Amino acid sequence: MTEKATLSIDGKQFELDVYTGTENERSIDITNLRSETGCITMDPGFGNTGSCFSSITYVDGAKGILRYRGYPIEEVAEKASFVEIAYLVLYGELPNAEQLTKFSSALREHAPLHSNLRTHFSGFPESAPPMAILSAMLNLVSCFHPEVLKVNVQGEAFDRTAALLLSKVRTIAAWAYRIANGKPINHPNPNLSYCSNFLHMMFSEPYQEYVVSPVIEKALNLFLVLHADHEQNCSTSTVRVVSSSRANLFSSVSAGVCALWGPLHGGANAAVIEMLEEIQQSGRPVTDYINMAKAKNNSFRLMGFGHRVYKNFDPRSKILKKQVHDVLKELNKEDSLLDIAQELEEKTLQDDYFVSRNLYPNVDFYSGILMRAIGIPLNMYTVMFAIGRMPGWISNWRELHEHKQRISRPRQIYTGETTRAYVPLEER
Ligand code: SDX
Repeated sequence: MTEKATLSIDGKQFELDVYTGTENERSIDITNLRSETGCITMDPGFGNTGSCFSSITYVDGAKGILRYRGYPIEEVAEKASFVEIAYLVLYGELPNAEQLTKFSSALREHAPLHSNLRTHFSGFPESAPPMAILSAMLNLVSCFHPEVLKVNVQGEAFDRTAALLLSKVRTIAAWAYRIANGKPINHPNPNLSYCSNFLHMMFSEPYQEYVVSPVIEKALNLFLVLHADHEQNCSTSTVRVVSSSRANLFSSVSAGVCALWGPLHGGANAAVIEMLEEIQQSGRPVTDYINMAKAKNNSFRLMGFGHRVYKNFDPRSKILKKQVHDVLKELNKEDSLLDIAQELEEKTLQDDYFVSRNLYPNVDFYSGILMRAIGIPLNMYTVMFAIGRMPGWISNWRELHEHKQRISRPRQIYTGETTRAYVPLEER
């Protein structure tokens, strides 16, 4: 028997269905609210609005829980490869040996880009932001594979489309970096793993093959695993809204790249490093910046802090912080920005402004320092986030189609002029 909620308005009572998920989250169904009451709900930023039923990722913001298809992030981060997690997020189960072999060979097969694409890359100015290139090239690549312009969510056609996108996104990213820096492109090497192949395409030089250190490959793998999906965040919701018009996968994730780019979302990982570098170069105490972030009349925010859902620690931030320490130690490197980051974290943990607003370090706070240790350039950080998030975007695109979800079309409350007659130019 479905639980009910009662809404009373204009002296009438309306019963609304309440749905409960497998983790006992509850939602009030307002599908018929407007037709029954003449009212809509209002929730700018959708902080209290469910857009879908999903079985991909579970996040409990109060307890700092994140699970992909039921597997806790703490477990998969240390034990699984990104390719395994991509398969899990896409198909709902961890792959067995045969499935992993087949999936990996599909990723190897689809890594190369059509040679004609080389000219399109060179059309971008050197100053072109890699996120702009990534979003543009995702749509461009689909023009060379017309089969992916159809909405295939089942069987071989979906498998091929998903593998093609997951694989080529690396090559697009690496070529964007190489060409923007006036370097010759590197073609993918089918003998390398997903992460090693990306690092090869990014950093191999004409007469100096990049030698992937196991420490760096493990760090990149962990980074990508931690970014694989995160329920209905801004960019994933964007992918779903675009998908809901029955747009193809490549155009949907291209829109997701644009949403991720913003500094309040995926762009925060680079913004954190810029903030830490500014603090370092200013010579001013960290407390000055904490006070600026607290000042009502100051738009400055501590980048990498706060989260719409996590009102506890973002579990990914804890894992990344440990990984940063391990990688710097194993590479025998130091990074003075890490000291500043840790001082910021320590001081905000004791500051009521942050504690009372549940503002803790999020996934972006330490991820930039890990990217620095790996050797990824600053303007590629958010591109790395996009590569990691690709399995989540693809899986949400597929789930929306499988659920045959209707086109997204929110309503509004109009606050503009009421009706008025046209005024001829000579009378204005
Ligand atoms: C990601 O949604 C996801 O799942 C995203 C993500 C994913 O995996 O997809 O986890 C990845 O995008 C992480 C977030 C990265 N962004 C940043 O680090 C940018 C800095 N943080 C914020 O701007 C902010 O915290 C957001 C955008 C993350 C969340 O914004 P909300 O939920 O709309 O919160 P809010 O802006 O309403 O802030 C609530 C209060 C306000 O103060 P009061 O009005 O109550 O006085 O907290 C303050 C804000 O001023 N506040 C901050 C702050 N973040 C919020 N104050 C100082 N520094 C900050 N970073």
